[in-house]
Amino acid sequence: MRVVIAGGHGKIALLLERLLAERGDQAVGLIRNPAHIADVREAGAQAVICDLEAASADDVAALLSGADAVVFAAGAGAGSGAPRKDSVDRAASVLMADAAERAGVRRFVQVSSMGAGQPPRPGSGEVWAAYITAKTAAEADLRARDLDWTILRPGSLTDAPATGKIRLAAPPVPRGTVPRADVAAVIGALLDNPGTWHQTLELTGGDSPLAEAVQSIS
Ligand SMILES: NC(=O)c1ccc[n+]([C@@H]2O[C@H](COP(=O)([O-])OP(=O)(O)OC[C@H]3O[C@@H](n4cnc5c(N)ncnc54)[C@H](OP(=O)(O)O)[C@@H]3O)[C@@H](O)[C@H]2O)c1
Repeated sequence: MRVVIAGGHGKIALLLERLLAERGDQAVGLIRNPAHIADVREAGAQAVICDLEAASADDVAALLSGADAVVFAAGAGAGSGAPRKDSVDRAASVLMADAAERAGVRRFVQVSSMGAGQPPRPGSGEVWAAYITAKTAAEADLRARDLDWTILRPGSLTDAPATGKIRLAAPPVPRGTVPRADVAAVIGALLDNPGTWHQTLELTGGDSPLAEAVQSIS
């Protein structure tokens, strides 16, 4: 399986690239900073330079030629302001989905966030509100498309080692944390699981073995 990952140098993306390489799949990481090429290659993926805030849908569609799946794992990140929540967390996902349609790549896994799908909580701050608004809009855009999409909303991410034990279900799942390593493993399991097409799933740490939790969704 050839999987193109938007935000290819992100923390989840690098873990996913390593996992895909280890199981014999081919990962391609889209990155904007040439200084990140070595890390992406070291994770076992092909690195392709593509600034998702500057590229056109046709540019990205050309990069998706021959791909079996797209994973949207980009994000403006901590420290960014409201405008980049819109230009990355919303618009770059819309761009990837446009490109996937043009290139005929049907499978699309979007990393969203718990909290999306509802108005931002009052008093949560301008940047958080922009983030949740952007994620909610990106989800709505993807749901309206004729693609084999899955929307994954993790809780608060940690850099703890993988546990292999999760809680994965349609919303609402109680808020919680989840290691990025478990998120990457869930994405890996979602990619070739048609039972999860057209589902919005929330993810935290939990008690269920990861493979069983993904398999139980359908
Ligand atoms: N933090 C949390 O607790 C939390 C909770 C739920 C969901 N999430 C979501 O989970 C996803 C992944 O999280 P993560 O921790 O792996 O993120 P991350 O390490 O911050 O990675 C995001 C990646 O997106 C890239 N990116 C930003 N703008 C770009 C552009 N214009 N073109 C190409 N790439 C661009 C960044 O590259 P640069 O290094 O070049 O900027 C970075 O490598 C994000 O969508 C995030 O919103 C986060």
